Amino acid sequence: MSYPVWHPFTNMGEFLENPLVLTKGKGIYLYDKQGNCYLDVNACLWSLSLGYGREDIIEAMMNQAREIACLPLFSRAHQAAVDYADKLLDYLNGDFSKIFYTSGGAEAIETALKISRAYHCLTGNSQKTQVGHFSNSYHGVSLGALSIMGIPSIRKNVGPIPPDSFEIPMSYEINQDNWAEYLDKIEQAILAQNVETVAAIVIEPVMAAGGIIPIPPELIQKLKKFCLTHNILLILDEIVTGYGRTGDLFAYQGMGIVPDLITVAKAITSGYAPLGGVLVTAKIADPFMSKDVTLNHGFTHGGHPIACAAASKTLDILHSEGILNHVKDNADYFYQQMQALDDEFEIVEQVKGRGYMYGVKLVDTHDAANLAPFARKYGLLFRRPAENNVIPVVPPLVSTRQDIDDIASRLRTILKEYLLAI
Ligand SMILES: Cc1ncc(COP(=O)(O)O)c(C=O)c1O
Repeated sequence: MSYPVWHPFTNMGEFLENPLVLTKGKGIYLYDKQGNCYLDVNACLWSLSLGYGREDIIEAMMNQAREIACLPLFSRAHQAAVDYADKLLDYLNGDFSKIFYTSGGAEAIETALKISRAYHCLTGNSQKTQVGHFSNSYHGVSLGALSIMGIPSIRKNVGPIPPDSFEIPMSYEINQDNWAEYLDKIEQAILAQNVETVAAIVIEPVMAAGGIIPIPPELIQKLKKFCLTHNILLILDEIVTGYGRTGDLFAYQGMGIVPDLITVAKAITSGYAPLGGVLVTAKIADPFMSKDVTLNHGFTHGGHPIACAAASKTLDILHSEGILNHVKDNADYFYQQMQALDDEFEIVEQVKGRGYMYGVKLVDTHDAANLAPFARKYGLLFRRPAENNVIPVVPPLVSTRQDIDDIASRLRTILKEYLLAI
């Protein structure tokens, strides 16, 4: 029988030679039909924060399914959506006043872009339609999200991209010491547009698919100030960094700013159900809360009740099990183990990251993609390298120091085998 699924971002020719079909997950491990065990160092594309087989999340989802299993939020509410929003906004001490639910990341980005433009329209600045994004950025693959895609290969072969966006330079080399030089270039790139037409700037606090590039908090503070001066909204894309990845619930909390909007998805439910959303400050949300205005926008399953129940339980666990402190306590250790690979292997050029999110960059003469077959042999799954020849090491947040040692040791073996094979 021919194989029936067309997989996203997958070279189907290669996949069909040896399809990897996984049948069970437990803790941070996955198993295939033959019982081979794997550790996905991308945590299900940065979603699976709490590991597989969490009976407490499963039970919360089942309880919700018994109550109300489906209820689109168009002109009505279900309790799970209201309770989760209340709980989340409470944790964030009033920084945000509303959440607009979606079913995933790209939908959250589309929503943030539309809210930004609609906000300017409502407040007398309908000419503000342009959105700035950074080179190397990734915000999803729907056409609106593609208009702010900073990885050129992903924009290929799909015809015209929606207009009214512009790219701002960002470099893999940005760091705590040199960010001021980059700030200057960033401000120049924005000023090169007519700022009267710029609605928003979108930035990931740690660029993920672009190569695990942590953006210095000081740069984001200055960017926020610049945006405020020019009535430009700052959208922080926390779809990867949200829900503990950097050690804070959201990365913005460690940066001394409150963005106008943040996009969330992925680990919001620890990957147990598809959900996303946009957190919106009162300044942006309030103009929409009148009888005269309707935002004609929404997705059937945005804020799905079972997903909201999973999100609520995930948030409870992040706090009750001290996951954020666990990430903070182990972050230096994690970095050191990755840095040891840099010290040991000439082909490792640099290691960067924050919290539970690191990128092992290979020198450009070696294609990180070529390591994937060796990784699979040694039970490590990374789907494909991020940009800049970087192997992303982004395991579930519940990974212990022993698990980090295990990941480092497998990476060591994989690098050695690869070097012997070439
Ligand atoms: C930073 C960032 N934003 C948005 C997205 C899009 O999310 P989704 O794949 O759920 O549409 C991703 C996906 O990897 C991402 O990394």
